[in-house]
Amino acid sequence: MAEPNTVADLVKHMQAAVDIPVTVKHRIGIDDFDSYEFMVDFVEKVAAAGCTRFIVHARTAWLQGLSPKQNREIPPLRYEDVYRLKQDFPQFDIEINGGIDTVKDIEAHLQHVDGVMIGRAFYHNPYLLAETNSLWNEPAPKRSDILAQLYPYMEAQIAKGEALPTMTRHYLGLFQGLTGARKWRQALSGKPQLTIDDIKRAADEVLLLNPDA
Ligand SMILES: Cc1cc2nc3c(=O)[nH]c(=O)nc-3n(C[C@H](O)[C@H](O)[C@H](O)COP(=O)(O)O)c2cc1C
Repeated sequence: MAEPNTVADLVKHMQAAVDIPVTVKHRIGIDDFDSYEFMVDFVEKVAAAGCTRFIVHARTAWLQGLSPKQNREIPPLRYEDVYRLKQDFPQFDIEINGGIDTVKDIEAHLQHVDGVMIGRAFYHNPYLLAETNSLWNEPAPKRSDILAQLYPYMEAQIAKGEALPTMTRHYLGLFQGLTGARKWRQALSGKPQLTIDDIKRAADEVLLLNPDA
């Protein structure tokens, strides 16, 4: 964001090379350049190069003194700046990102912007992704149904030489918030020799405790 002209140039060249839209993900500012006007200047320059879709992490990035991890937590969220961007540039596709972790919040943000990007919440609680089906008036699949689809997928990937823990690490949070969530996590974690049967046994145990899950 410190070099909007460079970003614009990159967008121009990338867009000339591909047939799909080039999108830009950015923050609301960096360090002391954290005014709304600074972000608008950035967006206008990048848009002039052909980008019409922006995903905005609603925090300033503090490049001095904070690690990337701290930069995802400490700078305060200013969702209003992203809403205002959409108001001022209704012709652009503006998506909001940062600290959003419930379907209710997603719905609230969608009153103001075109889209919501979720990062860590889906990772910590992948079932939240299933719950977003309600946004399309679709029921969420049950965890047991998700697992039933996952087993053949895992088998196919193993046959291709993929390691099971590479897949299961993304499902450690599948029972997040339910009884037995920790047991499930422990059954899957730190086990290089893990088998699909181990996973099925662990899942059956947790599903017994949560018949409606
Ligand atoms: C482990 C990890 C790696 C990330 N790497 C990138 C990255 O390479 N580029 C990027 O734009 N954002 C990256 N992010 C930030 C996310 O895209 C997102 O903006 C951020 O996590 C805030 O959204 P959230 O609160 O929904 O997680 C990363 C986030 C995490 C947790």
